[in-house]
Amino acid sequence: MTRFGIVGGGLMGHGIAVALARAGHAAAVHDVDPRTLAALPARVRRALAECGAGGPQAERTAARVTAAPALGDLVRDADVIVEAVPERLEVKHRVLAALESLAAPGTPVWTNTSVLSITRVAEGMAHPGRLVGVHWWNPPYLVPLVEVAPGARTERRLVDEACALLAAMGRTTVRLRRDVPGFVGNRLQFALVREALHLLDQGVCDPATIDTVMRSSLGLRWSAVGPMENADYIGLELTRDILGSLAPHLSSDTGAFPGIDVPLGEGRRGRSCGAGLLPWPPGRDAEVARRLSAGIRRNLAGPAAAGSGAPAPATR
Ligand SMILES: NC(=O)c1ccc[n+]([C@@H]2O[C@H](COP(=O)([O-])OP(=O)(O)OC[C@H]3O[C@@H](n4cnc5c(N)ncnc54)[C@H](O)[C@@H]3O)[C@@H](O)[C@H]2O)c1
Repeated sequence: MTRFGIVGGGLMGHGIAVALARAGHAAAVHDVDPRTLAALPARVRRALAECGAGGPQAERTAARVTAAPALGDLVRDADVIVEAVPERLEVKHRVLAALESLAAPGTPVWTNTSVLSITRVAEGMAHPGRLVGVHWWNPPYLVPLVEVAPGARTERRLVDEACALLAAMGRTTVRLRRDVPGFVGNRLQFALVREALHLLDQGVCDPATIDTVMRSSLGLRWSAVGPMENADYIGLELTRDILGSLAPHLSSDTGAFPGIDVPLGEGRRGRSCGAGLLPWPPGRDAEVARRLSAGIRRNLAGPAAAGSGAPAPATR
């Protein structure tokens, strides 16, 4: 059993704690907001229910997740520290400085940043070699993938150990050869989001149509056969021809995104305020949450479920 100390008990922090506890590890969670810590036991129980866990075993799992009101206690007792605070560089720098003033020099720190460079997150650390990029997907107790990446100064041994620990938990662990903003998954995801916004901006279709197309075609295919295997499957000549015809028409926007800037300018921020790209009437958020976890569980139970616990080959 490894003792994890998780700093930031929000959406990801509490979810990572549940994923670790389900694998038999202990997870202490610290957050600056006492209400977040007070809500931790109920959120852990809800997450376990989403996993279909119940009874005495779920109670034993829940007991492995504890609240740590004092950062010093969490850091002192942790074999591995997980940073899951908001995605702002200055916040991460502040939290890492506070951690390092309390932690033993050898304690590894895993950052759950989604898109920041690991090298930049490590800037200002007294021991930047201890910072490893370990990117979980939401909800971490259901989605099997974890992406692991080194920063420019990360100790290779700590990357090896992180991959081994995650693989032993049965996670689908991929190891990147080097640090890139967004790892692999978010780069793929946001290439697609950019193109979807471009289609909206060009008046080609509405947002609901984008979702229908994805959910009824690529979403089904990609959980069984990934885009690289599919390229080989249809043949690289055809893939090359399609790319040659289509690439000049695809978005290369880097600054303005009217498809999302316009709703934002009108105060439509999405689920939290009742409207975004789509309408969010009362009850829709709960229905989406249920549909999301049920869909992931259905996919994982199917024969197409991808990935063993072993680290996949490095990506280029
Ligand atoms: N939301 C996702 O789907 C997702 C997926 C993968 C990775 N991530 C990454 O995980 C990290 C956390 O994201 P989240 O979605 O859980 O955010 P969140 O806002 O839900 O949680 C962040 C938590 O950190 C706490 N916090 C803020 N400052 C703190 C401090 N100084 N010390 C301790 N706690 C502090 C906040 O009170 C909050 O509870 C981000 O880097 C994000 O990019 C998010």
